[in-house]
Amino acid sequence: MNAAGSRAAQGPLRRIVLAGATGTVGRLTAARLAATGTYDVALLTRDPAKAAALGLPGRLVGAEFASPATLRTALRGADALLLVTNDPLRPEHDVNLLDAAAAAGTPHVVKLSAQAVTDPDADDVITRWQRANEERLRASGLPWTLLRPRSFMTHALAWRRDIARYGVVRAVHGDSLNAAVDPADIADAAVHALTGSGHLGRTYALTGPRAISAREKTATLSEVLGRPLVFDEISLDRAREEWRRRLPEVLVEALTLSAERQHRGAKAAVASGVRDATGHAPRSFRAWATEQAPAFTHVPA
Ligand SMILES: NC(=O)c1ccc[n+]([C@@H]2O[C@H](COP(=O)([O-])OP(=O)(O)OC[C@H]3O[C@@H](n4cnc5c(N)ncnc54)[C@H](OP(=O)(O)O)[C@@H]3O)[C@@H](O)[C@H]2O)c1
Repeated sequence: MNAAGSRAAQGPLRRIVLAGATGTVGRLTAARLAATGTYDVALLTRDPAKAAALGLPGRLVGAEFASPATLRTALRGADALLLVTNDPLRPEHDVNLLDAAAAAGTPHVVKLSAQAVTDPDADDVITRWQRANEERLRASGLPWTLLRPRSFMTHALAWRRDIARYGVVRAVHGDSLNAAVDPADIADAAVHALTGSGHLGRTYALTGPRAISAREKTATLSEVLGRPLVFDEISLDRAREEWRRRLPEVLVEALTLSAERQHRGAKAAVASGVRDATGHAPRSFRAWATEQAPAFTHVPA
């Protein structure tokens, strides 16, 4: 199939499948699609009963990325797929989703990738996985759109407990810059790509309006929350110890390489992808923090 064709040429869009529907980007995308009142949206999850508690708008559909049969059923009749996976150690998840999309003749696949794939110095296991995912999609013959976000602004939510308890933000390389993007802008781009025309065969580099450091994010959160916050720069060794508590060594190594690249300035460039895909400017960290302020004040024990 020709990836440069137009959406309109493929007939009316009715059924959209969101893989990763209960995740950060998937949830926001589901809410936006539901607000149009136009589409039958299938929200894939391993556990529909658990996902029901999230109150997501759309039809929850049980599917397991490791199970080709569940994916083939879920993708039957789909007009578009948002392809979100999150395990760099399970490349077969993307393989299975693409096989199911090909079997169903899905007319458009919008893939959530990462901006790091464009950095020739990025050779960690996470970036290699995303590069392979992109190559597989381009080689599939299915019409595609690639979304390549920089770091999500929502990572700052990991600071909530230390902020609530101690008024402290701890992070590595406090002055290194990242043109972090609001996941709401990624979801906007996904909705435009899934439902609009002119997105086939296009790649969008999604960043915020400017690069920002962890130290500046702390200062912004302090202003927004109306309380003093201290920024405490931790060593990379200490960060690695913390990552080791929840991640396998291979991912600890990938995060280490990623932090070092950020320290060298590799993630500071601002791109036009949010505006190109959506027509609106990217949201600032201050806007994100203001919207999220309640999440920083009501922290679960
Ligand atoms: N975080 C960042 O800063 C950043 C930056 C650039 C790119 N990215 C990319 O963004 C993607 C992650 O997006 P996200 O943060 O929105 O996702 P997320 O919050 O990590 O959510 C993951 C989703 O995948 C589903 N899932 C996981 N394993 C599954 C399985 N075996 N079978 C079926 N569903 C499964 C989960 O559903 P259930 O649990 O309900 O089954 C959940 O909906 C990754 O590809 C990552 O590389 C992230």
